[in-house]
Amino acid sequence: MTPPQYLRNIVLSSQLVAVLAQGADFSYSGEAVTTRFWDCCKPSCGWIGKADFSSPVLSCTADDAPADFAAGTGCNGGGAYQCSDQQPWAINDTLSYGFAGVYITSDLTHGAIEDAWCCACYQLDFTSEPLIGKSMIVQASNTAYDVNTASRFSLAVPGGNTTSTNACAKQYGVSQSVFGENNAGVSSSDDCDNLPENLQPGCRWRFDWFQDASYPR
Ligand SMILES: *[C@@H]1O[C@H](CO)[C@@H](O)[C@H](O)[C@H]1NC(C)=O
Ligand SMILES: *[C@@H]1O[C@H](CO)[C@@H](O)[C@H](O)[C@H]1NC(C)=O
Repeated sequence: MTPPQYLRNIVLSSQLVAVLAQGADFSYSGEAVTTRFWDCCKPSCGWIGKADFSSPVLSCTADDAPADFAAGTGCNGGGAYQCSDQQPWAINDTLSYGFAGVYITSDLTHGAIEDAWCCACYQLDFTSEPLIGKSMIVQASNTAYDVNTASRFSLAVPGGNTTSTNACAKQYGVSQSVFGENNAGVSSSDDCDNLPENLQPGCRWRFDWFQDASYPR
């Protein structure tokens, strides 16, 4: 099946290898595509009962304190947002850690959805330039449902891709525009200086370690 045009333009087709999952049934490997997101919404894996995990993914209040697991998402009038520490960081030139909104195609999950990936960890081995030889280990904190024709990891990168909701503005008391443009995020490392301070390292990671790979020019 051919992925949509914008996914083909994003050259980050990555080879994914499951290194750790909740159960033997949920260990996958195969090809995947990646995108980026940072919408400040409560992560989808942050709800009780989403999967057979010991705890849902933490969400945070606007003060970056742990939110009650039952609290509603800041993207829909509630007070629970994406925690600022769920941003990527580099260990060295070839290895980074981070979080992702995941979708794994049903041929691999045998039809299971979030309970098949929420909180599991995956190793992404990039197979396209400029990231060949680099790997990233991500925990599935969220779900990327909007494209379901390919397995996908939407990497949580502050300022990496905003959406039309204004949850980031509400969470941080800033203009939503500091998070950049819809579907693109901020456009340079300097723009990261405008983000709330605790989000700036993950924003700069995109231009350093990640080489701004999602939107090659
Ligand atoms: C931003 O998110 C939207 C919605 O998931 C997605 O369609 C788009 O490809 C993303 N952009 C990037 C640069 O990842
Ligand atoms: C990066 O760190 C990982 C884990 O410690 C290690 O296996 C790898 O060799 C390191 N790579 C470089 C380029 O130092």
